[in-house]
Amino acid sequence: MAYSNFQEFLKRLEDIGELKRVDREVDPYLEITEIADRVMKMPGGGPALLFENPKGSSFPVAINAFGSKRRMAAALGVEDIESIADEIASMLKPEVPNGALQAARELLPKLGVLMKMPPRHDRGEGTCQEVVKTGDDINLEELPILHCWPQDGGRYITLPLVFTNDPVTGKRNVGMYRIQVYDRNTSGMHWQMHKVGAEHARVSAERNQNIQVAVVLGGDPALTYAATAPLPPGIDEMLFAGFLRKSPVHLVKAKTVDIEVPADAEIVIEGYVDPREQRLEGPFGDHTGYYSLADMYPVLHVTAITHRKNAVYPCTIVGQPPMEDGWLGYATERLFLPLLKLTLPEVVDMHLPVQGIFHNIALVSIKKRYPGHAFKVMHALWGLGQAMFTKMIFVFDADVDVQNVDECLWRLGNNIDPERDTCVVRGPIDVLDHASRSMGFGSKIGFDCTRKLLAEGFTREWPDVITMSPEVKKRVDAMWTDLGLD
Ligand SMILES: Cc1cc2nc3c(=O)[nH]c(=O)nc-3n(C[C@H](O)[C@H](O)[C@H](O)COP(=O)(O)O)c2cc1C
Repeated sequence: MAYSNFQEFLKRLEDIGELKRVDREVDPYLEITEIADRVMKMPGGGPALLFENPKGSSFPVAINAFGSKRRMAAALGVEDIESIADEIASMLKPEVPNGALQAARELLPKLGVLMKMPPRHDRGEGTCQEVVKTGDDINLEELPILHCWPQDGGRYITLPLVFTNDPVTGKRNVGMYRIQVYDRNTSGMHWQMHKVGAEHARVSAERNQNIQVAVVLGGDPALTYAATAPLPPGIDEMLFAGFLRKSPVHLVKAKTVDIEVPADAEIVIEGYVDPREQRLEGPFGDHTGYYSLADMYPVLHVTAITHRKNAVYPCTIVGQPPMEDGWLGYATERLFLPLLKLTLPEVVDMHLPVQGIFHNIALVSIKKRYPGHAFKVMHALWGLGQAMFTKMIFVFDADVDVQNVDECLWRLGNNIDPERDTCVVRGPIDVLDHASRSMGFGSKIGFDCTRKLLAEGFTREWPDVITMSPEVKKRVDAMWTDLGLD
């Protein structure tokens, strides 16, 4: 099911009992964070919150809208994220149809879905442009932008969809990069060096040009998720969002930049970045659970702010896990597994536990077929898009449930000889990693936690895992109620 806008999604969350309104005045300076942090740490992620009276602003603040398994699924219009993963898997592996009739029955609906994906270009204004502010009317400080944590360098827009176009090919990119507010009409632009927005800026710099930017807040939540998804450069996030929502994204021309923006977004901030200009950005209480240090980043000069008449300001906070962004990561884990299996068919499952903040820990199970197979899988992951940031990869046999972290720790401890079964490599590291030797560069480690083979030099006997015999289990099942032990 597609939502026409973010408020329709909030309405749906309210209808299914997943949203709480807060009508008393609450300060976006630290107070909303403290409330939202307590809620996000409730079992299952707590409810979404709508602060109707944020201090100092007339825009209500929505937070934690993606912050549970159920809400993340609702954001993508399904009951269970796995159903989309299954759909992706079936699209990647279409069965060879047995005859024309079967082809029509099985392939045409899939093609129909594909045809619906590309974004539509609407003429005229979008509802995101009901109010247009330019020149002296521009004032970022009117928005209820959170100052999230005590040592933060200022207020940050935390759920922005940053639209840029490749200066050479014109291809669009949408990434989620935080925006620190400096004053009424300037802000930071925290696209990290490995991200596509930063690449667009580098290409602009080579051509001595500014790069135009539109920062979008809201729209169908599928768009927000798409901005966070590790899509290969060149794959349009709006096309991916169209696939997720089974309906094309409607775009309109922005007012002061040559960029198309989602017609039904809540708020759009238009502007440009001069690639030669940099300013100190940060510190910021980050999703690592630590403050990321201040560093030099580009500056966004705002040329217009447009918004719906009754716009809601969507945001999140990041910090010590578990947090709302863990559920966005969960969606990526599930939706990208079928794509990963295209390159690595031996992979059975993969889990990125929330304590591992997406890029510190990956637990992978494989059908091990040959000596060194676990190492092959590690190297493949380190060579694959944003998976290159994975600091620790643990590879297990197919019968290990990698969704069960307790089981993984037990198997890991038992199954490795650290000297033989680890592999340390050097390469790109997530910019937010504060332990690496330098920013963005350091080492990564893989652990082969699989059963070892003779051909891997293992000449001893590998013991069986302890389990009870099925006959005894059956006998005890039959007497269990009589034992009165429950
Ligand atoms: C809440 C949230 C905040 C994020 N903030 C940033 C950020 O400030 N800078 C950044 O480079 N990536 C940030 N990311 C990660 C990127 O959005 C993610 O890597 C995305 O795939 C980048 O898109 P791109 O490949 O089109 O550059 C954030 C992700 C989330 C979920």
